[in-house]
Amino acid sequence: MTKSYYLTTPIYYVNDAPHIGHAYTTLACDVLARFKRLDGFDVKLLTGTDEHGQKVAKSAADAGVDPKAFTDRVSQNFRDLADAMNFSHDDFIRTTEDRHKTASQAIWKAIAAGTSPKGNNNIYLASYPGWYAVRDEAFYSEAELTIGADGKKIAPSGAEVEWVEEPSYFFRLSDWQDTLLEFYDANPDFILPKTRRNEVTSFVSGGLQDLSVSRTTFKWGVPVPGDDDHIMYVWLDALTNYITGVGYPETETGEYATYWPADLHMVGKDILRFHAVYWPAFLMAAGLEPPKRIFAHGWWTNEGQKISKSLGNVIDPHDLVDKYGLDQVRYFLLREVPFGNDGDFSPTAMINRMNSELANDYGNLAQRVLSMVNKNCDAKVPEPGALTDADEALLSAARGLLDKVRDAIDVQAFHVVLETIWGEIRAANGYVDAQAPWKLAKEDTGRMATVLYVLAEAIRHLALLTQPFMPEASGKILDQLGVSEEARTFEFYGPDHALVAGTFLPKPEGVFPRFQEEAGKDGG
Ligand code: MSP
Repeated sequence: MTKSYYLTTPIYYVNDAPHIGHAYTTLACDVLARFKRLDGFDVKLLTGTDEHGQKVAKSAADAGVDPKAFTDRVSQNFRDLADAMNFSHDDFIRTTEDRHKTASQAIWKAIAAGTSPKGNNNIYLASYPGWYAVRDEAFYSEAELTIGADGKKIAPSGAEVEWVEEPSYFFRLSDWQDTLLEFYDANPDFILPKTRRNEVTSFVSGGLQDLSVSRTTFKWGVPVPGDDDHIMYVWLDALTNYITGVGYPETETGEYATYWPADLHMVGKDILRFHAVYWPAFLMAAGLEPPKRIFAHGWWTNEGQKISKSLGNVIDPHDLVDKYGLDQVRYFLLREVPFGNDGDFSPTAMINRMNSELANDYGNLAQRVLSMVNKNCDAKVPEPGALTDADEALLSAARGLLDKVRDAIDVQAFHVVLETIWGEIRAANGYVDAQAPWKLAKEDTGRMATVLYVLAEAIRHLALLTQPFMPEASGKILDQLGVSEEARTFEFYGPDHALVAGTFLPKPEGVFPRFQEEAGKDGG
């Protein structure tokens, strides 16, 4: 039976201008989704836009349009980003869709119908007096706040807070503390990386307060079932997208039955608490299973500075792709920092990676081998003779890569995957230098054919593995090796599907050009 793999990105605040931080979360998911598809899984990758809440209502009012017309327009920005980055999502959800209203109201009812582990109603009506940050769409306690330069109170995220006092439904989160701690204990890899897991468990161990889950002072949201004066708290609405995407409230058949619980919710570290504390509590309260894993990645800065509209240093992914190339940007973002840590973008770092690892290492390997085959082997896959120890060593290392890479992928260690692949690329370049096939072309064409065959076969393995990261460039390399479209999944990894001698190969062309700053352009 085919195994399923369901993974999600956060849904993006619809009124934000897409930047590399947004591109990063989805890119990580896209690579995982592509990898799992190649590895034979039935994958569903969900992304979309988060369209309700006070922040969106304010932006629409500022733009002088009604919120629906506003979100219809700006949601497109995230679809455009997905196209520009070559994301392969299977579904794009908007929280203003009817299917999502249905799911949100259904989860509310399921939570309200159940009782907490301490035998209380999960949801009760009271009044919320406290601090709210519109920018984060989050409530804060007095103790968490500091005083900003202008004397105003500031949330830990830096967002301004406002005093809110209104009737509100509450979710009895305080009753779920022990259940959550038991759940984290029983599922040690539920939150990765480990340091983030420790942050969450110590937060929960410190005690949980009930959570205000409805608002009455604005209307832009999903109405609370049975009480139209209230709309649902935007985070409860937003988190529910993950089950809307698989057809909730239908749970017995269809996508929910196939895909839930999700294998992974990928999130940035700033929204971990919502995903690792509130979301599993909501789900358990509704009698639903929590997801299998939350991975919290780090944040990107721009040349050492926090990326923000007010600083004017937002990096537009479209500009990056235009300047450096799509696969180059995809490679850079996942190679530059250990996944989970914060990263810093700079043109110098980008160009260094492009020129040394893509152009010099990978591009050069493919280019010189394919050019020699074209020139010296009548543009056909050469016929190998007997293999030496060095030949066997290179090939068996290439064949062994998939298992290593799979382990790293399963813990979202993208940097380890790329380091492992690059170890083999460097070994292959070392083998080219040691075997010197250009000399063999004059002295021993039989041995030259063997060396070029071994290299072409090693490159086939490498290109199969780099497909999830760099789909276009890897596809071009596989084209140039004469590997058919159908023979590019991991089923074709290994010696049983080796290149067939005599296969005609198209004219080779470089895949990773060196980046050269155009004269006269500014240094960036
Ligand atoms: N709408 C909520 C998510 C709801 S999910 C049920 C939200 N949206 S967001 O647009 O602000 O952020 C979406 C993702 O982008 C988050 O994972 C966030 O961490 C990520 N990033 C935003 N800026 C970032 C950087 N500068 N660097 C890396 N990722 C960052 O939160």
